Amino acid sequence: MARTSECRICSGLVTEFIDLGRQPLADAFRLPQSPEPEFFYRLAVGTCADCQMAQLMEEVPRERMFHEDYPYLSSGSTVMRAHFEGIATRLLETEMSSDDPFVVEIGSNDGVLLKTVAAAGVRHLGVEPSGGVADLAAAEGVSVRKDFFEESVAREILAEHGHADVIFSANTFSHIPYVDSVLRGIKALLGPDGVFVFEDPYFGDIVERTSFDQIYDEHFFFFTARSVARMAELSGMELVDVEHLPTHGGEIRYTLAHAGAREASEAVKLLMVEEERRELTSPATLARFVENVERVRTDLLAELRRIKERGERVVGYGATAKSATVLNFCGIGPDLVEFICDSTPAKQGRLTPGTHIPVRGPEEYRSAYPDYALLLAWNHAEEIMAKETEFQKAGGRWIRYVPEVSVS
Ligand code: TMP
Repeated sequence: MARTSECRICSGLVTEFIDLGRQPLADAFRLPQSPEPEFFYRLAVGTCADCQMAQLMEEVPRERMFHEDYPYLSSGSTVMRAHFEGIATRLLETEMSSDDPFVVEIGSNDGVLLKTVAAAGVRHLGVEPSGGVADLAAAEGVSVRKDFFEESVAREILAEHGHADVIFSANTFSHIPYVDSVLRGIKALLGPDGVFVFEDPYFGDIVERTSFDQIYDEHFFFFTARSVARMAELSGMELVDVEHLPTHGGEIRYTLAHAGAREASEAVKLLMVEEERRELTSPATLARFVENVERVRTDLLAELRRIKERGERVVGYGATAKSATVLNFCGIGPDLVEFICDSTPAKQGRLTPGTHIPVRGPEEYRSAYPDYALLLAWNHAEEIMAKETEFQKAGGRWIRYVPEVSVS
């Protein structure tokens, strides 16, 4: 019997299509001597028969994931810094026609987007439950409320600041299972002509690229235009625009407005037709995806074992949250990958969740290049390749596993 659950969007029947096994929290990097037992849960995804939304079968309590020590920094990449400056500037140019505009960001992290809004002197508020990163934003002159965004919080913000012209969220909205409360909050807080703009990994790209490592505790929903349109409709809003982005391995920027307030763009229609043509959530498509995932596991393990047998060294590049899924699903530990280099100070000196591979600063990788680097931060490939040309000049080779295992 297939495992099922109730859809968090429409209460329809969600049927599981992939089980990635027992997994730790993807961002729970451990101190080597930590006596704390690790928290594990079952990582599996299903799709809803009614609204088609792909979603996790099990929810991890939010306080376990987002807290004072949450280590991820949104501004850890030059490309992403430019990306957020670009969208902030665009929103400032196109969506600020009211007298005293107000921008709210759900999950403002270290302020990578809002600092541009703050510098423009526009009223804004970031809502961020992870205290450490929120403090970094505040130090950049960004106004932050340390909280989880939900209906009660949205109503308090409304009472204090008035309606928002723009509510923005990047790589956060898909993290929130209790989306009904969040959408009620957005609906209440958004001005009559306001927009809710959010960017999240696109299920269509995950299927196409076999990027199963996009699946981890923090990524609860995997959006498509069709499922987002249905979610918007159920909350009195409308999907009025979509833009395909190259960020984080393929994302869509969705724009929602109050129902009837704006005309939907041609791009929305086109993407929905494309999703229909691809039969994105059909059992056959999902079964092919699962086969591809299993092939990646087999090929990656075979490659790493061959390298080990030859006595050569492999170092991981980028201790991403995504890497927790691939490392734990494949059973890759310090026996196959010596250490992982990462530029984030809060991850260095720690061990990867579940697999306990040491995380070290990039200088350790550069001081004695390994024979191979396993590109775990594959979504930042361009930026990393441009920065690490010396590695290849020294004879080093990159191992990739998206969309399939390759060595170059
Ligand atoms: P992300 O894929 O979730 O954005 O995580 C990227 C991780 O990779 C993050 O821990 C920072 C790290 N990283 C590096 O170590 N070097 C780099 O050049 C880039 C772009 C990221």
